[in-house]
Amino acid sequence: MLDIKKIRADFPILSRKVNGQDLVYFDNAATSQTPQQVIDVIVDYYSRLNANIHRGVHRLSQEATDAYEQARITIQKHFNAAQPYEIILTSGTTESINLIASGYSTLLEAGDQLIISALEHHSNIVPWQMLCEKTGAELKVIPMTLNGTLDMEAYENMLNSKTKLVFVNHVSNALGTVNPIEEIINKAHAYNAKVLLDGAQACPHIKPDVQALDVDFYVASAHKLCGPTGVGMLYGKSELLETLPPYQGGGEMIATVTFEKTTYADLPHKFEAGTPNIAGGIAFGAALDYMNGIGMDTIARYEAELLDYATAELKKIEGLKIFGEAIEKTAVISFNVGSLHPYDLGSILDQMGIAVRTGHHCAQPIMDFFEIPGTVRASFSFYNTFEEVDRLVAGVRKAVLMLH
Ligand code: ALA
Repeated sequence: MLDIKKIRADFPILSRKVNGQDLVYFDNAATSQTPQQVIDVIVDYYSRLNANIHRGVHRLSQEATDAYEQARITIQKHFNAAQPYEIILTSGTTESINLIASGYSTLLEAGDQLIISALEHHSNIVPWQMLCEKTGAELKVIPMTLNGTLDMEAYENMLNSKTKLVFVNHVSNALGTVNPIEEIINKAHAYNAKVLLDGAQACPHIKPDVQALDVDFYVASAHKLCGPTGVGMLYGKSELLETLPPYQGGGEMIATVTFEKTTYADLPHKFEAGTPNIAGGIAFGAALDYMNGIGMDTIARYEAELLDYATAELKKIEGLKIFGEAIEKTAVISFNVGSLHPYDLGSILDQMGIAVRTGHHCAQPIMDFFEIPGTVRASFSFYNTFEEVDRLVAGVRKAVLMLH
């Protein structure tokens, strides 16, 4: 059971007012809020530890390095990677994806085939389009169905000996659909294709086990997981990361440098050029500790109850249509009411202190599929309450009356 009162007390922002009302924060899929325990770690870093890592003999540098590398181990354990050096710390999911796309530009040739899905965020579409332009590889798209799931038969028919890489989100950011990742991975591996899962939207709700999944690459961002912005991770099987060239050149990623030739550092440093977001990396570890302290299963159970309740209550509103009704869903509801523009609905909700996201959610192909300009998206977290859902439902009802 969640002690929701105690949990909410951990998040200072949840007690602020917006437009004179108690804040209702339902934009968790865009970014989650940060508990005091994680804020304290960031303050402590700058108050007590601040130094560059991996390069100083002095005490502060050593302590900062230890804290940063301990965070890497926390992340490794959370995702159940075999080795800490299989965790590359990046600026976020987008950079993690671009790192892999950049690496594969030297390994692909014209005629190779890449597969993505119709449910992808732009960050898991554009880098692969750029990679195809560079290499002459062909991009194929697994189509989606009306309830917001992937057409797995079409996927199976797409796979062949030319398929080199498959990129799919674990959970859709716009609809909340949980994709059948085990099946996607197993079918790709049957053709020797490698799989990258974008876990940005899954990780706040699900704890992935990268070894049990046998996934090749898995990426996520700290800021969706109660951590800070500007830091994220890439998990890669070490034998695959070894085959990829460095992403960026600079300090930290080298073994030796002369003007004639440079040799590269071992994993993970080969992919971590320059001074990283040190406080962010340490806070990423603290955020995972915080969430694991509550328990990912407990979080998932509570959010599923919130989702069921909100879905049932919202559906009672005349003309309200939910987009994405997969059986396996995380706590995300994308909806429109009649022909009302999502932006207008969202703006009125904001006047009532209720934060939702409106628009295409960086997933324009999904909106094109449904032939809509966008949706209102309410995304829930374990610190949200049933009373807040009631405020959303009442708010939508009021907004509809005002707009008619
Ligand atoms: N990708 C984030 C979202 O879905 C920003 O809102």
